Amino acid sequence: MVEYKEKIPTSEEYNYITNAVGWGTRDNKIVEIALNKSLYSICAYDGDKMIGYGRIIGDKTIFLYIQDIMVIPEYQSQKVGTNIMKMILKKVNEFKELNPSIRTYLGASKGVEDFYRKFGFITREEANLGEGMILKM
Ligand SMILES: CC(C)(COP(=O)(O)OP(=O)(O)OC[C@H]1O[C@@H](n2cnc3c(N)ncnc32)[C@H](O)[C@@H]1OP(=O)(O)O)[C@@H](O)C(=O)NCCC(=O)NCCS
Repeated sequence: MVEYKEKIPTSEEYNYITNAVGWGTRDNKIVEIALNKSLYSICAYDGDKMIGYGRIIGDKTIFLYIQDIMVIPEYQSQKVGTNIMKMILKKVNEFKELNPSIRTYLGASKGVEDFYRKFGFITREEANLGEGMILKM
C-alpha cells in the first residue's frame, strides 16, 4: 500500500528518484539545501522505500511553482502521480486563502503535458501569456 507523507525527503531518497526517472543525480549537499527551502513537500512510500515525490516552491503569496513531480517507473500508471498532484493542489488552495489570484506555474517535460491538463493546467500560450523562457546554461 502506498502512503503519502508531508515531509522533506533525504538527499539520498530524492537522488534515487531523480535517477530512476532518468534525470540523474545532484550533489547531496546541494539537494539538501534546495529541498529545505520548499514550501510544501510530499513523499509517496511503499514501506520504507520512497517511490514518488512532488513539491511546491515559491513566495507563498503571488507565485507558486510546482516542481519535481515524479514516480519511479515500477509504480507509474497506478495513480501515485495523481494523488501527489491532488495533495499539491489542496495546498495551493490553502495558499489561495491569502491571495485568490496566486499564480501557479509548472514546467511540463516534453510529452507530460496531458498529465497536467487533467488537473486544470494550460499552456502559457493558451492563457495568452506568451511563451515560457529559461535562462540558457
Ligand atoms: C508523469 C508522472 C508523474 C505521472 O505519474 P503516474 O503515477 O504514472 O500517473 P497516474 O497513474 O496518476 O496517471 C494519471 C493519468 O495521467 C495519464 N498520464 C500519466 N503519465 C502521462 C504522460 N506522461 N503523458 C500523458 N498522460 C499521462 C495517465 O494515463 C492517467 O490517465 P487516466 O486518468 O485517464 O487513466 C510519471 O509518469 C513520472 O514520474 N514520469 C517521469 C518523470 C516526469 O516526467 N515527471 C514530470 C516532470 S514535469
